[in-house]
Amino acid sequence: MPGQGSPHADIMFIGEGPGLNEDKQGIPFVGAAGTFLNTLLASIGLSRETVFITNMVKCRPPNNRDPQPDETAACAHYLDAQIAAIAPKIIVPLGRHALARWFPNEPIGKLRAHPQIFDGIMLFPLYHPGAALHNGGLRSTIEEDFLKLGALLAELGTSVNMAPEVPAPPEPATPEAVSPAEVAAVDTVVHTNEDATEEESKEETEVAAAPETVAAAPVESPPEPTHDADPLPAPTATLAESDEPSTQQLSMF
Ligand code: URA
Repeated sequence: MPGQGSPHADIMFIGEGPGLNEDKQGIPFVGAAGTFLNTLLASIGLSRETVFITNMVKCRPPNNRDPQPDETAACAHYLDAQIAAIAPKIIVPLGRHALARWFPNEPIGKLRAHPQIFDGIMLFPLYHPGAALHNGGLRSTIEEDFLKLGALLAELGTSVNMAPEVPAPPEPATPEAVSPAEVAAVDTVVHTNEDATEEESKEETEVAAAPETVAAAPVESPPEPTHDADPLPAPTATLAESDEPSTQQLSMF
């Protein structure tokens, strides 16, 4: 299940992996977590048609267990190709599995709702919407964090494409990442690949999820690289600090 959304999306949401229904329908986030995600998107004026939604792993791990490192590794080149083709201006890792693509040793509770620049790409990590289904106390936190994403988009201005479909630009543009300078005024942390080697934090509390294995990686054709690569204007304000990291974190998110 490759994903869903606009090939011109400026915002890419990355979840964990498809569940049974997602696998059957070929659509990400179709269950209760997806319903909540739809509500969250709507709360900041977005919809599934205006963003791109995908997952770390492209097949359903057996019994909905957490994806294993070899499974995320096996699917990584699909995700990399999707990111390269769509060239989003902001990537929103949903939950710790997606966050681990860039920050394997950082807890989602620490980085959530804090913009990060990683090798020129802006990341805005958020809790996985499914976390609210397991821990109702996180629901309002997730809602508030989404509003912070909305505020960030507002600061970055209208060059973030929220239109469902935008015609291809007259001349193919080279996908252009957000530069650190462009987001310097936003409360953003700039990273390089070297950061990924930091020692793993023990902050997260492990909550076992049901187990399995990702079947053979699907062959998917990423959308054509037709992203319009308008540079983002320099933000003019600073995002508010998010709350302190929650001590109540689920390892599956
Ligand atoms: N559905 C998805 O597609 N991904 C998730 O991470 C959870 C539910």
